[in-house]
Parts: sequence; structure tokens; C-alpha cells
Amino acid sequence: MGWKHLIRTALVLAGNERIEGKMKSLILVGDARKRLTELKDGSVRTCVTSPPYFGLRDYGTADWKGGSADCNHAGKPMATKANINKNISGGRDVKNAEALEFFKKTCGKCGAERVDLQMGLEETPEEYVQAMVELFREVRRVLTDDGTLWLNLGDSYNKDKQLIGIPWRVAFALQADGWILRQDIIWAKPNAMPESVTDRCTKSHEYVFLLSKSAKYFFDHEAIKDPAIYATEDGKRNKRDVWTISSKPFKGAHFAVMPEALVEPCVLAGSAESDTVLDPFTGSGTVAVVANRLDRHYVGTELNAEYAEIAYNRITGDAPLMNEVLLTHDRQIDLN
Ligand SMILES: C[S@@+](CC[C@H](N)C(=O)[O-])C[C@H]1O[C@@H](n2cnc3c(N)ncnc32)[C@H](O)[C@@H]1O
Repeated sequence: MGWKHLIRTALVLAGNERIEGKMKSLILVGDARKRLTELKDGSVRTCVTSPPYFGLRDYGTADWKGGSADCNHAGKPMATKANINKNISGGRDVKNAEALEFFKKTCGKCGAERVDLQMGLEETPEEYVQAMVELFREVRRVLTDDGTLWLNLGDSYNKDKQLIGIPWRVAFALQADGWILRQDIIWAKPNAMPESVTDRCTKSHEYVFLLSKSAKYFFDHEAIKDPAIYATEDGKRNKRDVWTISSKPFKGAHFAVMPEALVEPCVLAGSAESDTVLDPFTGSGTVAVVANRLDRHYVGTELNAEYAEIAYNRITGDAPLMNEVLLTHDRQIDLN
């Protein structure tokens, strides 16, 4: 299949057209900020996503310029689990306990310079927030005028024990950039990782911000109703804004994935059947799998080609006869 054909298929998909009754997923491998520009204005009904958290981990997409060819550009084993719990929010990644310290810009061993389009490795919270604002500006262009963004973010502490407040910093910055900030949904985790702290409570929540492009937007509240506590006509009530959902590991990926139960209400309320759902940070493809199961198409971007492959296999494996996935590569880094 030629490149032009792939891109044309991509545009057809992003234009919401249903092909042969199958659920279509398109994964554009590369930097989200660049690859989203290939999608048509107003072609996606909702975006459900969990971006890399600020400074938390390295998703392994670096090329290294200069230094030693023999160096693995990784430092000492990361802090013990106890230390990680002290410094990092909500136990997002248990595997970090075994991971090696990573260098954000310059290799601390051989001096090589990192060349990377990965988000989350910015030097300061301000740079991280700015990167998120620019990325989500492109998401807003791709959304229909009645479209929504469901943005999952967790917080972390800096070395001076200060809570950084990343989720709200991003939320306010998006608001200032033209988004309507509609709700802070609390994702309460009953199985949150224990922390060794004794001078504050153990962190057991993250945020899912609901943002919209316009004041009037698509929101199917009927599709996500909770069971009623007191008698009502239909035995249901409007969904509350605290969602208690256990985080679950996905064995194919070496990082925390979004629980399917967290993605489901976002997809159900934010889109109708045959709509297209977007996740610029596809990872292992959780949003795609959930969207396809609920009869929505999917389009996503992912910088790490290996993760895109994992997502490809996961989506096709979930419903081999119904799901059709297209993966297009474009990862060019200028090392000069
Ligand atoms: C928190 S993970 C997403 C997990 C995903 N929600 C799941 O359930 O598997 C963040 C993802 O963003 C990807 N990523 C980082 N920088 C990126 C960029 N500039 N463009 C596209 N993807 C990027 C990482 O490789 C990683 O897979």
C-alpha cells in the first residue's frame, strides 16, 4: 500500500466515513503535534486522553547525538520504591521501582545530547503547561464545534515537598486558551499504591477534566446514568463527578494504562455511535479498544513505534473480525 493511499485512507477515516461496517482505527506514529495537522477540521467528536505526566518517566523515544556509542544513556537504578512513593504521585507506575534514572537533556555519563520529541520531559512546569496548551489547540481544531475533551492528569511533588498542581495549571491554561472548563471529575482509586509518607494522606485520586469547544456541546447524560439511591422513574440518576475505579495493569505495556472503566463513560457521553474518538497519546490503545467496542471509530497518534505496535495488536486482537487498524509511520528526527 502506497503512502498516498494511506494518507487518503487516514483522511477518509478522520472525515468520519464508515467503511464496510467495520470499526476503523488509525494510528499515526510520530509526534502528536505534527501528525494531528494531517487530520481535517471538525472531524472528531471527542478526545479522551492521558498525556505523559510531568517529569515522571521516559517513554524510550530518544535518539542521542554525540557522546559514546557504547553508553546506554541511563543512570543508576531509580530510587527505591519507598523513595518513589515519597516523590511521585499516586503510584502511577510500579515498574519505575526497577527503572533506571533517565537524563532529560544531556547524558550524565557520556555527555550525549538527547534528541527527542517526547512530551513530559520539559524542564519546568511552565514549559510542560505550554506544550500541553499547544497540543490541545490542535486537538480543538480537529474537534467538531460540539466536541469535548476528557483530560486525565495526576499531580506530583517536587523535591521541596511542594505539590506542583500540574492538573489545575494545565486546566487554567487551557481555559485561558479558549476552552470551556466544564468539570473536574475525581478519579478515586480504591487500590492506590501505598506511600511511605507520614506527614500527609496517601494520594489516591487523579483528575479527569471535561472541557468543551463551545458552550453548547454533545453530552449524552442518559448513556452514563448511575443507579439511583432514592426511588426515581427509571431507577437511575445523573452521574456524579467522583468516579471510583481501580487501576489495572495491562501486561503488554510497561507503563500504567488508563482503566477501560475510566474511558467508557467519557466515550459514551462524549460521542454517538459511528463518531470518531481521538487520543493523541495512544500508548497501549485503551481508548481505541473501548471506542471500537462501543461502535465508534478511532484515530490516535503515538511517538513510540513499539507502543503503536502493541496498540495495533491489542485492537485487532480484541475483535479480529470487526476491528480494522491502520498504522502509518512518520518519525523523522534531524540529528544534525
Ligand atoms: C500515559 S501514556 C498513555 C497511555 C494510554 N492512555 C494507555 O491506556 O495505554 C503516554 C503516551 O504518550 C506517548 N507520547 C509521549 N510524547 C508524545 C508525543 N510528542 N507525541 C505522541 N505521543 C507521545 C508516550 O510514548 C506514551 O505512550
